[in-house]
Amino acid sequence: MKTFPDGFLWGGAIAANQVEGAYLTDGKGLSTSDVQPQGVFGAVVERVPGDSGIKDVAIDFYHRYPQDIALFAEMGFSCLRVSVAWTRIFPNGDENAPNEAGLAYYDKLFDELAAHNITPLVTLSHYEMPWGLVKQYGGWGNRKTIGFFERYARTVFTRYQNKVKLWLTFNEINMSLHAPMTGVGLPEESSREQVYQAIHHQLVASALAVKACHEIIPDARIGNMLLGGLVYPLTCKPDDVFAALQENHTWQFFGDVQCRGVYPGYMLRWFRDNHISLTITDEDREALRSTIDFISFSYYMTGCVTTDETLNQKARGNILNMVPNPHLQSSEWGWQIDPVGLRTLLNVLWDRYQKPLFIVENGLGAKDNVEADGSINDDYRINYLNDHLVQVREAIEDGVEVMGYTSWGPIDLVSASKAELSKRYGFIYVDRHDDGSGTLARSRKKSFWWYKDVIASNGGSL
Ligand code: BG6
Repeated sequence: MKTFPDGFLWGGAIAANQVEGAYLTDGKGLSTSDVQPQGVFGAVVERVPGDSGIKDVAIDFYHRYPQDIALFAEMGFSCLRVSVAWTRIFPNGDENAPNEAGLAYYDKLFDELAAHNITPLVTLSHYEMPWGLVKQYGGWGNRKTIGFFERYARTVFTRYQNKVKLWLTFNEINMSLHAPMTGVGLPEESSREQVYQAIHHQLVASALAVKACHEIIPDARIGNMLLGGLVYPLTCKPDDVFAALQENHTWQFFGDVQCRGVYPGYMLRWFRDNHISLTITDEDREALRSTIDFISFSYYMTGCVTTDETLNQKARGNILNMVPNPHLQSSEWGWQIDPVGLRTLLNVLWDRYQKPLFIVENGLGAKDNVEADGSINDDYRINYLNDHLVQVREAIEDGVEVMGYTSWGPIDLVSASKAELSKRYGFIYVDRHDDGSGTLARSRKKSFWWYKDVIASNGGSL
């Protein structure tokens, strides 16, 4: 029986805006997520008194976290990835003093995790920032946002220094290229230059958070978080192979800066070729030298790249505009399922950076059917996760250092891309539906028992 290394962290990952609800409770301010009711690719809709959106309640984790954490503990979790909602701490983003009620909420959450021996892994910003900073300052387009973020990061590091030793800066930082409002608080029609300038500010802020974390909590480790967007060449035509290399550079760029502390040459060339001129100060260059301790990433699928424009045209509108791989099956949402790709990606990242890796999201979004007796037989989810975890085990055998695995959405939550509840990832079912109906009751799916066995056997049951 092959098991995972001792101390491997097993668990799940959730994000504040997809689970908490309570979107104005205890002094919380509006975030970009609150004004994107249709999800991360959706339009901004200004809130008016009395309106409501699915995320306003989400799965009510804000109030139900003790019960949910007890269920995670029952599965044997040793780790839970959560995010802090920046707007609970600084409601508008630019206040001088934090909101005590927001800080107190996460104290209680971390205490509850500690009571169950579950290690928190905390993302500072998961697909949301204060809406006030977007409206008044232009989001990450404005250099001032770096200072606001640093103040927020220092505040939470100081407050939770004895409770949280594993941190992540920005969720899927490379997603800003596909969803600028969600990533950097810029309008979708922003130019590439504006988006990259905002990204530069965010990369500086990420590095300043790393520095602050090391100063304030010397025994903590802090990582980045990438959308692991591995792509393959559609054919072995050399032009396709090079196009795939360049496409992989679009996400590796973020990891390169965060791990190496400097902009890579291929990116400087791309900026030159595309007449993009960024303002990068000496102070910024110095800040970027604070590099991360480990790399975390999400993995759901792979895609293909081709220089054939007819095929590319057809792919427009697919998730991330990728050309489908003819050798892979897709989920109900068109995400191509590729367990071996996870082993490849782990090896690629390890070869490139030689830093520990943490898989902080992976999972299958699917519609679940509740049987007459209340059971949910989600064998499709078990198969997906089992196949991926077998490949993680292979990568570890390949010599890759993997710190842990937190599957995405261990409890059903609101999906990010389209703000749906019918796209479910959980081991725990939540009785709530796209139209807002449902009791919010929790129940165990078949996969709950499967994951419990995986964790209890440290991967030996796979
Ligand atoms: C990642 C995000 O992109 O994918 C999560 O970090 C998100 O927030 C997850 O929920 C799955 O995407 P979706 O659209 O199915 O929720």
